[in-house]
Amino acid sequence: MRSLPGVSVTIEVASEATDELVAAFARLIPQLSQRSVPPSSVELAEMISSPASDVLIARLDGAVVATLTLVTFRIPTGVRSWIEDVVVDDSARGHGVGEQLNRFAIELARSKGATTVDLTSRPSREAANRLYQRIGFKPRDTNVYRYDL
Ligand SMILES: CC(C)(COP(=O)(O)OP(=O)(O)OC[C@H]1O[C@@H](n2cnc3c(N)ncnc32)[C@H](O)[C@@H]1OP(=O)(O)O)[C@@H](O)C(=O)NCCC(=O)NCCS
Repeated sequence: MRSLPGVSVTIEVASEATDELVAAFARLIPQLSQRSVPPSSVELAEMISSPASDVLIARLDGAVVATLTLVTFRIPTGVRSWIEDVVVDDSARGHGVGEQLNRFAIELARSKGATTVDLTSRPSREAANRLYQRIGFKPRDTNVYRYDL
């Protein structure tokens, strides 16, 4: 794994919707989706307290530089996990932070009994698609549908 010389990356599961985290999401979400409104403190608290979601945070020398949300749920065929809303701050990209976040999420999903971890990524997200395949995600032969509400 590539790492930044002289600085340390730590990954944690968020436990509280602090002002620091609200500010970090306000910085990071526009780098993922221009149209999405970053979560409010109340919304962040809802995600953090839900047993279905784990909000992962990556810190570089203490500062929040990335996030990933792991969603885990039981369906008739078993426990499944999804990775959603992965974003690394532009200033911290290309040094393996995204890889570390994803590997942490995969191990967390395993520890929760999930048998698969799914995600989607538009083909135009070249860095993301390279990263996921490097880690071991395999394209599925299925159609992805969405019903807008
Ligand atoms: C995709 C993303 C999370 C990767 O984060 P990261 O910390 O840079 O990930 P890594 O360093 O582990 O790997 C990044 C890959 O992108 C490449 N890359 C592409 N553009 C880069 C850039 N501007 N700077 C650095 N690396 C870049 C790296 O070389 C590496 O691929 P390679 O090792 O196969 O060559 C990050 O680019 C990002 O947040 N992008 C915008 C949001 C997004 O697309 N999210 C994913 C939604 S599915």
